[in-house]
Amino acid sequence: MGNPFRFGTVVTGEDFADREKELEELARKLRGTVRIFLLAPRRYGKTSLIKNVLDLLGRQGMLTAYLDLYWPNSSQEFLELWMSNVVRSSRSIARRAARFVKDFLPRVRPKISFDPTGSPQISLDLPGPTLAEAAEDVFNLPERIAKAEKKRFVVVLDEFQEILRLDGEALERQLRAAIQHQKNVSYLFAGSKPRILTDMVSDETRPFYQMGTLMTLDKIPEKEFTQFIESKFSKSGKSISPEALGILMRRSENVPHYVQLLCFYLWDHFQGVSRIEESHVQEAIEITLRSQEPAYLTLWEGLTLHQRKTLKAAAALKGRLLTAKETIARFRLEAATNVAKSLKALCAKSILRKEKEGYVFEDVMFGRWLEGHGA
Ligand SMILES: Nc1ncnc2c1ncn2[C@@H]1O[C@H](COP(=O)(O)OP(=O)(O)O)[C@@H](O)[C@H]1O
Ligand SMILES: [Mg+2]
Repeated sequence: MGNPFRFGTVVTGEDFADREKELEELARKLRGTVRIFLLAPRRYGKTSLIKNVLDLLGRQGMLTAYLDLYWPNSSQEFLELWMSNVVRSSRSIARRAARFVKDFLPRVRPKISFDPTGSPQISLDLPGPTLAEAAEDVFNLPERIAKAEKKRFVVVLDEFQEILRLDGEALERQLRAAIQHQKNVSYLFAGSKPRILTDMVSDETRPFYQMGTLMTLDKIPEKEFTQFIESKFSKSGKSISPEALGILMRRSENVPHYVQLLCFYLWDHFQGVSRIEESHVQEAIEITLRSQEPAYLTLWEGLTLHQRKTLKAAAALKGRLLTAKETIARFRLEAATNVAKSLKALCAKSILRKEKEGYVFEDVMFGRWLEGHGA
């Protein structure tokens, strides 16, 4: 039997634990006409939740499009991705893509081609229309298709904060202007930089001010997640002791990606072992850290001496009391202002993230690696 644990990919179906309430709530809201901002740090399971919601809505007859803003490198590429994915919203629309493109994007005159699987690929021929003209028509495409098909549309923009990287606020403004009057399309904006996204909707000088409601995705409740893991082990003929499971959840800080990653290595490495104990978890962590060491060393080498000391303090103190006098003395951090400066830089590099209780490592295992090096 194959390894029942999955990480690094979207999880669906029986690989998808719990999230029933979130799934139901999102699906229910998105059937109306809404704009929702879904926020959570990386690796909490946003994309997986979204894909499950879209599958459900698709089965209920809605048109759906999913765009990951991580990939386009310019406004033009973003518009191309938008057009291509919108016309792929259903097989029947994809088949008629050429017609939709001709009818609904007359100014844009995009080029349409089909990949070997018959999936339409649309590219923009600029100059021709200005980018602003193209954007207006392209952003209205889902509404026009929805009307023509008498169906509702849901468009997801994942990693939405990346829009800022494309064309500053101009594109944001064009997007707002186009979608704010649409009646048949719901939008779900997801992102792993909760701060940046919150600023986008709560600052009145920004184009997306009050454009939607915020929803934060928490970790999966520990009870549900541990039940899921136990059952995965037992279905594959293994068991895991409560102590081992406890350590696993603590060391992975219950972040779904790391929980699955450790389980994957446990399952993979201890094939002959029928019951997983604490020592096995410790060893699985060692293996994980060893495999990540080259990447962690590169990261480490890119930091200033003071940032390194600050990180060690953050690992040792679980991100708390970092500017306290004793901390500064113990880790030789010089002064609170220096610590503040290093923390700011480490957050900007997405190594740390500020939360209510203190600073946490974006990569949980990087924190574990530092602990293993005397932090
Ligand atoms: N509901 C879930 N049940 C089990 N594992 C999950 C769940 N959600 C996420 N994961 C784990 O976390 C990993 C990252 O999920 P992903 O959806 O890509 O997160 P995000 O989009 O927030 O970065 C997945 O590959 C999987 O290992
Ligand atoms: Mg994601």
